[in-house]
Amino acid sequence: MWKDLELLADAARDRSILSLFDDTRATDFAVQTQHMRFDYAKTNIDAATRSTLLGLAERAGVAARRDAMFSGQKINETEERAVLHVALRNLDGGAITVDGSDVMPEVLATLARMETYANSVRDSAITDVVNIGIGGSDLGPAMAVQALSPYHDGPRCHFVSNVDGAHIADVLAGLDAKTTLVIVASKTFTTIETMTNARTARAWMLDHGGDPGAQFAALSTNMEKTADFGIPAERVFGFEDWVGGRYSLWGPIGLSIMLAIGTDGFRAFLRGAQDMDRHFCAAEGAENLPLMLALVGIWHRQVCGYASRAVLPYDQRLGQLPAYLQQLEMESNGKSVAMNGSRLTTESGPIVWGAPGTNGQHAFYQLIHQGTSVIPCEFMVAANGHEPELRHHHTLLMANCLAQSEALMRGRTLDEARTKIADKFEGAELERQAAHRVFAGNRPSTTLVYERLDPFTLGQIIALYEHRVFVEGVILGINSYDQWGVELGKELATALQPIVEGEQPSDGKDGSTQALVDWLRARA
Ligand code: F6P
Repeated sequence: MWKDLELLADAARDRSILSLFDDTRATDFAVQTQHMRFDYAKTNIDAATRSTLLGLAERAGVAARRDAMFSGQKINETEERAVLHVALRNLDGGAITVDGSDVMPEVLATLARMETYANSVRDSAITDVVNIGIGGSDLGPAMAVQALSPYHDGPRCHFVSNVDGAHIADVLAGLDAKTTLVIVASKTFTTIETMTNARTARAWMLDHGGDPGAQFAALSTNMEKTADFGIPAERVFGFEDWVGGRYSLWGPIGLSIMLAIGTDGFRAFLRGAQDMDRHFCAAEGAENLPLMLALVGIWHRQVCGYASRAVLPYDQRLGQLPAYLQQLEMESNGKSVAMNGSRLTTESGPIVWGAPGTNGQHAFYQLIHQGTSVIPCEFMVAANGHEPELRHHHTLLMANCLAQSEALMRGRTLDEARTKIADKFEGAELERQAAHRVFAGNRPSTTLVYERLDPFTLGQIIALYEHRVFVEGVILGINSYDQWGVELGKELATALQPIVEGEQPSDGKDGSTQALVDWLRARA
């Protein structure tokens, strides 16, 4: 199947995307759900390629694996865990069984406890919430809180993640310790950055007249450690190890989102995700949005060999979506060993990066249009903003989004470039100047359009990307739910700490590390 795809890629290499357009391509190469439309007509995928990609997914057993995930089987085989973030939004679904017991009563009871607590905080004198966490305990809630700012009617939410003291110092500087709630968000409650920041926040609160005994809450799977830290059980919101860190914003780790937008808004967010789950489980083949998003990803990365993909939301409030997707996609699928321990025979997942449009247009789009590497772009834009009085801004935003995908596909020929500047230059100078104004074109992109970035829609978008990662992982044969690649650096940092502090000598380290430690120490 991979061989067939390589042949199709060879055939597509010199084919123009524009030449694929007939009367029906725009409809045939799009997935339309009740709430959104995903257009992949501006890629070099034709009908034969799509059916081969669908065949690849079928051969990889995507549907069976999906059913295994949704039914609580331990598909995270290297950690022997189920993968059940979908249970956290299974608001009115049936039982999901892990090790013989239904997890749903506990999930729904925790959601109810979160709601009672969130309502009490929103009704209290608390003005500010500081979520201390990192990775999945930070990126999801921080992204979602920013995305949903038009729906904020609770305390202001702030996020501290970096162990760099600058981060917590800057956030706490503007806050009143007496009216601030600190949430310590950590699945393991052992992450060095988070625990260091949590201790610093506790000391700050004590020093500034707050009451850490009453103004700290914890979100974790580790009840022993939250108790050791001194957070009473009634303010600890637990979850199970079958929720991966980067998939955890749907449960307790999403408490800051609930505090910001309220319990109804949070339920709408969960419902959006649940709606996407149902679509993912029910829609067939090319009608299935996450499946098609994943297959476009496989085509571009593993078949065509494009190393990265750019996520380009034309939605300022999705400014943190690229960073969130970096963890979701790269921590999940950035692996070179297959589930069975053998070396991967394809490329692993791509480098994911991006920034909101239109800002990116004035920064890195130059390289996307005229650089030597092809970078598939994933555009997204809403039909409506939240500022009806600024509709002309939104019109411009949409026009820019659509113009970029059109420009990437069409490009500009040397002839067209010449014509454009023929009144300014002539002869050899015209040739030289025109060459700089050529756009190769034929650069692939997809566009996701949705009605408005409300809680329901955000839930849909995130769940869409989660399932995309899942499908790509199954096709690659890797375990998308572990992250052994982050361990070595953590171990070495722990070992280096006493050396950097000067308590241990730096010899024994490689020459470069030793010289850097010595340089830093000499100036500390
Ligand atoms: O180091 C990576 C990681 O384990 C992520 O997978 C996780 O989201 C993050 O650290 C934070 O972990 P925790 O929630 O346990 O503090």
